[in-house]
Amino acid sequence: MKKDSKKLYTTDGKVQTLTNDIDVNQKLSKILGKKFSDYRKIWDKANNMEIVTDFPLFLHLDMNQECNYKCPHCIIGHPEEVAENYFGDYLNFKDFKKIIDEGAEHGCPSMEPQGNNEPFLIKNLHEYISYANKKGFIDIMLNNNGSALTKKRAEQIIDTGLTRLRFSLDAFTQETYSKVRVGSIPLERVIRNIDNFLELREKKNYKLPLVGVSFCKMKQNEHELDDFIKFWTNKVDMISIQRFVPPTPNVKKYEKYYASDTLKEDPITEFKCVQPFQRVVIKNKSIAPCCVSFNKNLILGNIDTTSIYDAWHSPKMNNIRKLHKEGKFYLDKTCKDCVDLIYPNNQINNLSL
Ligand SMILES: C[S@@+](CC[C@H](N)C(=O)[O-])C[C@H]1O[C@@H](n2cnc3c(N)ncnc32)[C@H](O)[C@@H]1O
Ligand code: SF4
Ligand code: SF4
Repeated sequence: MKKDSKKLYTTDGKVQTLTNDIDVNQKLSKILGKKFSDYRKIWDKANNMEIVTDFPLFLHLDMNQECNYKCPHCIIGHPEEVAENYFGDYLNFKDFKKIIDEGAEHGCPSMEPQGNNEPFLIKNLHEYISYANKKGFIDIMLNNNGSALTKKRAEQIIDTGLTRLRFSLDAFTQETYSKVRVGSIPLERVIRNIDNFLELREKKNYKLPLVGVSFCKMKQNEHELDDFIKFWTNKVDMISIQRFVPPTPNVKKYEKYYASDTLKEDPITEFKCVQPFQRVVIKNKSIAPCCVSFNKNLILGNIDTTSIYDAWHSPKMNNIRKLHKEGKFYLDKTCKDCVDLIYPNNQINNLSL
């Protein structure tokens, strides 16, 4: 087992990926060739804050907030918080095409048509992905809860150009699954959907998408992590262990979900967020510099009136990048709240200046 990311500064540090053989991006480079490895080289430079690309490398589309589950660790499990933090119309296929077309014009390599929602509830999701693939996006990824990926949907999605497909499970036993994935179908049926998808991929002799499972480590499920890893090793291409982060600064409500080891960590000495160097998040129709749900104050514009290019080069976006490059996240209230949520023992703040 190898740990995927060795980046020092990244909110991607919230996710660790375990693979059976080589690193996931090396594997994808072998399958997809030079175009993919070139994009990853630029990605690494952006992640190290060595460059600011002319256009985001990653378009993350938080298209709607519809889900059939109500996981208590996720904002979607709390409709009152969704109402507080999301506004504006959902993205439709026309909006999607407009965004993808702009990305294609600038050679944007990667995208994710999923945010805080269940992507397979979008009936023609495969058409969205095919469209992005045909427009030249070479790395298209998705998380899903596995409940709606039936054999029919698997047939529809498998050759659309999707590169990474992750199933979020967060549990090894049914007992824990029902607690952390409230409103879910039986775990056994989700596992069957994953097995069916893997069988289909094998039958068609496809290398892609790479398939993973994920586990958001919390107080309520941490005792099952080892069994989870043992069970899924050799079945899937990657296992992601996510760090639980409260979805809003409503700490009192969410602190009971922090994993025990998170609470025992030493305070961080430095933090720089890389998301504004990688991506924009289209949150319904708003353009945001990152994926956190409570980033109202960081919104850069609306897709009906602002291009992604202009948002990416706007003074507001440049300022967020500058702030993080200099390690001064605490100068922005949203970023300070965000870091305090990721690292509950954080002691870096404006007072220490
Ligand atoms: C928001 S979900 C959306 C996609 C799909 N519904 C799913 O469950 O995979 C995407 C990922 O975010 C994770 N997630 C949700 N709330 C989280 C939190 N508070 N901290 C860390 N990860 C979280 C989920 O476990 C899932 O793996
Ligand atoms: S299934 Fe995904 S989007 Fe839905 S509540 Fe759970 S984590 Fe959130
Ligand atoms: S709020 Fe700030 S620190 Fe948090 S993800 Fe967004 S840009 Fe990064």
